[in-house]
Amino acid sequence: MSARLSNKAALITGSSRGIGRAVALAIAREGAALIGVHYGSNADAAYDTIREIEALGSKAIAIKADLNRGKEATDSIWEQFKAAAIAATGEPWLDILVNNAGVAPAIPLSQTSESVFDEIMTVNFKAPFFLIQAVADHIRDNGRIINVSTGFTRVAAPTHPAYAASKGAIETLTLSLAPEFGPRGITVNAVMPGVTETDMNAAWITVPEARAGAEAMSVFSRVGQPADVADVIAFLASNEARWTTGQVIDATGGARL
Ligand SMILES: NC(=O)c1ccc[n+]([C@@H]2O[C@H](COP(=O)([O-])OP(=O)(O)OC[C@H]3O[C@@H](n4cnc5c(N)ncnc54)[C@H](OP(=O)(O)O)[C@@H]3O)[C@@H](O)[C@H]2O)c1
Repeated sequence: MSARLSNKAALITGSSRGIGRAVALAIAREGAALIGVHYGSNADAAYDTIREIEALGSKAIAIKADLNRGKEATDSIWEQFKAAAIAATGEPWLDILVNNAGVAPAIPLSQTSESVFDEIMTVNFKAPFFLIQAVADHIRDNGRIINVSTGFTRVAAPTHPAYAASKGAIETLTLSLAPEFGPRGITVNAVMPGVTETDMNAAWITVPEARAGAEAMSVFSRVGQPADVADVIAFLASNEARWTTGQVIDATGGARL
């Protein structure tokens, strides 16, 4: 085992399932000491992830908070993580924050209600913003902030205009914050997945024609797996990525190049 992240404490939003879960396991394989497994409502999935992390030798704790509650939720996430960090190590520190949780309803402009718009923006942008604010003073030197975006910021997505815009906002936030964290050696980057086989796409990814269309988008002629994206995030979390900040890293499998 390479153990590039030994003694690191990581907090990953939306790590009960999908890409976030794969990130938690990738970080555990790299030897992280403590991993916060945040989730919204699926406790069974969160505790499955925790059991897998523990089998890899890392400590893990479940952190429940509905990100649609905005700052109240992100303050609660930090309080829950801080208590676990103090119990585990005596110190309220964090090394790696991955803002991964997201919602991506396919709703065109004409059908986007104000409440759905607000939910997309709150979960995908407002919550990451205030979670970064909550942890900013507690991330140790040479820490990592990694935000999960989407390939829909690079190609037009008239099926998902509010979703794509929420991710455009997080990419701009990534750029804006990199100079602020730089003096402490903390990098701030975003990762851009393409179509990835998770519950988010479960409704259509097994339909043969739809899957063939998704596979054809990548130069590798397949749909991405959560580990394809998680390994890029684990690299950004490592010391090897210390000279990269303020960037959006493509993890779409060369989609629509
Ligand atoms: N899958 C793709 O094709 C794809 C492509 C591009 C970008 N992305 C981005 O990658 C990230 C992860 O996507 P995924 O496909 O892994 O998603 P997923 O399988 O649907 O899992 C979503 C995760 O986010 C959590 N979550 C959702 N809404 C929440 C809320 N209101 N409060 C708290 N937690 C909430 C879920 O928690 P529960 O388990 O408790 O519900 C779950 O852990 C998202 O930001 C997404 O936009 C995905």
